[in-house]
Amino acid sequence: MNSVVRPTSPLEPIPLEPVQLGPIPLQINRAPILSLQNIVKTYASGELEFQALGGVSLDIFAGDLMALMGPSGSGKTTLMQIIGLLDRPSTGQYFLRGENVTSLTENERSRTRNLEIGFVFQAFHLLSRLNLLQNVEVPMIYAGVPADQRRERAMQVLEKVGIADKYKNLPSQISGGQKQRVAIARALTLTPALLLADEPTGNLDSRTSDEVMDLFKQLNSEGTTVVIVTHEAEIGEQTRRIVRLRDGLLESDRVNEGKRGQP
Ligand SMILES: Nc1ncnc2c1ncn2[C@@H]1O[C@H](COP(=O)(O)OP(=O)(O)O)[C@@H](O)[C@H]1O
Ligand SMILES: [Mg+2]
Repeated sequence: MNSVVRPTSPLEPIPLEPVQLGPIPLQINRAPILSLQNIVKTYASGELEFQALGGVSLDIFAGDLMALMGPSGSGKTTLMQIIGLLDRPSTGQYFLRGENVTSLTENERSRTRNLEIGFVFQAFHLLSRLNLLQNVEVPMIYAGVPADQRRERAMQVLEKVGIADKYKNLPSQISGGQKQRVAIARALTLTPALLLADEPTGNLDSRTSDEVMDLFKQLNSEGTTVVIVTHEAEIGEQTRRIVRLRDGLLESDRVNEGKRGQP
């Protein structure tokens, strides 16, 4: 009466030999967070035109930790300004989170830039008369976040980068490495599609550079997409993907074997 009757089901598992699973391909099913398609940028200089980018196509994926490298004059800053919506391509298409952002109006571009791109610059670009908390609040002011939420969020990101205890200090009262931490906190406040850093360690000594790189790596391991523009090999080697430009063209795009699969 208590005996259990097991129904025979077509879904009953069939015993199989164990299968050896191979490594998962790096980019399986990953939609690009950002897609550049045949980007050309021409600068007019006097009567002449100079082509700084000669047709660059590049996909950046959610979770990438990428270095954009190349010699001086190869087009790194030009490409970064296009990715960061600070400038527009002469021809070509740019998709950000699936949206075509190539021909947004000036206002739309500013808003998308503020919400989707977290900038980190070599020279930090902190406002000298605002304390650290207020500096971090700036992008949220532009985005219209209410004051109490701004404060709370600013403290959270300052804690994340390990400098919350100094929130009342002015930028002049902290070190270069600490300034870059604050700039990274500011870049994170609106949960951007990507962090875009132009020579972020260019003004730092090597030990402080390592600390800032550790912070980028930590944020990346937690899911932040990071693109670092650098001409320093030691910085590039700490990322998982290295894209090289030469004379305005993509020279190479490689997985950094030493860092494959590592956070
Ligand atoms: N505003 C501009 N007007 C004219 N030429 C420019 C301008 N900006 C950059 N260039 C030229 O475009 C090329 C690429 O510059 P850039 O993107 O700054 O290279 P990188 O950052 O790799 O050093 C360089 O030859 C530079 O002189
Ligand atoms: Mg440059």
